[in-house]
Amino acid sequence: MSISRRDFIVTSAALGAAGYASPFAIGSPNQPSKMLNIGLVGSGGRGSGAANDSLTANPNVRLVAMADVDLAKAKAARDGLKKAHGDRVSVDDARIYGGLDGFMKVINDPTIDLVILTTSPGFRPGHIKAAVEAKKHVFAEKPVCTDSAGYRTCCEAHDLALKQGTAIVTGTQYRRQPSFMEAIRNIKEKGMIGEPVSMTARYCAGEIWYRDRLPGQSDADYQIMNWMHFIWASGDQIVEQAVHNIDVVHWMFGTPRSAFAVGSRWHRPADSEMWDSFKVDYQFDGGRLCSFTGRHWPKATGDFDNVVYGSEGIAQIKAFSNGSIISDRNGKELWRMKGDIGAAYRQEHKDLVDSIVAGKPIVELRQTAESSLMAVMGREAAYTGRTVGWDEITGAKLDLFPHDIAKGVVAKPFVRIPGEYELA
Ligand SMILES: NC(=O)c1ccc[n+]([C@@H]2O[C@H](COP(=O)([O-])OP(=O)(O)OC[C@H]3O[C@@H](n4cnc5c(N)ncnc54)[C@H](O)[C@@H]3O)[C@@H](O)[C@H]2O)c1
Repeated sequence: MSISRRDFIVTSAALGAAGYASPFAIGSPNQPSKMLNIGLVGSGGRGSGAANDSLTANPNVRLVAMADVDLAKAKAARDGLKKAHGDRVSVDDARIYGGLDGFMKVINDPTIDLVILTTSPGFRPGHIKAAVEAKKHVFAEKPVCTDSAGYRTCCEAHDLALKQGTAIVTGTQYRRQPSFMEAIRNIKEKGMIGEPVSMTARYCAGEIWYRDRLPGQSDADYQIMNWMHFIWASGDQIVEQAVHNIDVVHWMFGTPRSAFAVGSRWHRPADSEMWDSFKVDYQFDGGRLCSFTGRHWPKATGDFDNVVYGSEGIAQIKAFSNGSIISDRNGKELWRMKGDIGAAYRQEHKDLVDSIVAGKPIVELRQTAESSLMAVMGREAAYTGRTVGWDEITGAKLDLFPHDIAKGVVAKPFVRIPGEYELA
């Protein structure tokens, strides 16, 4: 396990010349080195952040290839990462790919062990599927789908990864943040709040970015760039952002039977498909209700916390680095823990790489596919103005991806209106 960098390069080259796919072949019982080669797909804000997190948390990885529809963005991200991590960012211009097919050049690169998938969410199911079929280990940012078809693609990819022994970790960092993990352990395993009865979860923010159309830009290029505002690409706020909180509801109570929701739209730019707010009641077995509230309202205050109500107490599980507190029904504090979201962002990449090196790959895609679909289900309940069931949403046709996007074809944007809009 301690071969030098030079030996490593020589060994890689020799194995490559012999037609051997990767010096770290998946499932190989005797991996010659702990070093893993990473390819990054989607080199925007989170892509750069995720690559940085992996390189920071794992001395045994290096970044060797990148893709982004916007080549200049990928090069800028590469230069920034190289400044921070030196030789472990070894991506020459020939291994930076632009365009919509650039991701396949990363995924098909036989020297790459692990791909980080951080484009806008609409592309995620297709990218995950291609990466898993190419036998790559995967880090996939949340949400992992924006519709029912994408959910089913993720479930298939999860099963294939399990079967072939490749890893998939997702960007639900709170699942690796001790202030969340311990709070939920205290509730579920130690019974600190008695019987958990219900929960509220909030993702209530101010404004979100909007990227103005560039002169001469095609509809497809514009939607890819200004992706937050198109439902196929982002899933709307409830899916794109609030999946973090809905994932905590899933962690606590599993998948719901149904969702009933309301929402509003009053301030979005004219061509945005997004709503401004969502309020969803998720119904679970035994008639228990958990409620989610989310919005982007300009100049409004923020609240991103989760509260679990039990027969004997209350747990506040706060977002970012704000920590958790458990109290009894009289408000007496029983337990508290500080939070550190930065550490959680790095931990997910450490757990992924450690699991690969140990030959015990983590596969957690289905869990995040379910949380993402719970968010889709709440959104569709609001858009349609009626109750939507779990069985209905898992089986729905709902396939929003513009399959002819490579030919520049995307649908004309429209706002879903209850009573007019139907869930297919
Ligand atoms: N876990 C977290 O807390 C967290 C935080 C921020 C963002 N995210 C997630 O990360 C993802 C990316 O968000 P972001 O803020 O980095 O967005 P961004 O717009 O900054 O970056 C997305 C990048 O992907 C590129 N891209 C889009 N489609 C592509 C394709 N088909 N092939 C290659 N490149 C493509 C874009 O050009 C852009 O550079 C989203 O899913 C978002 O929800 C997660």
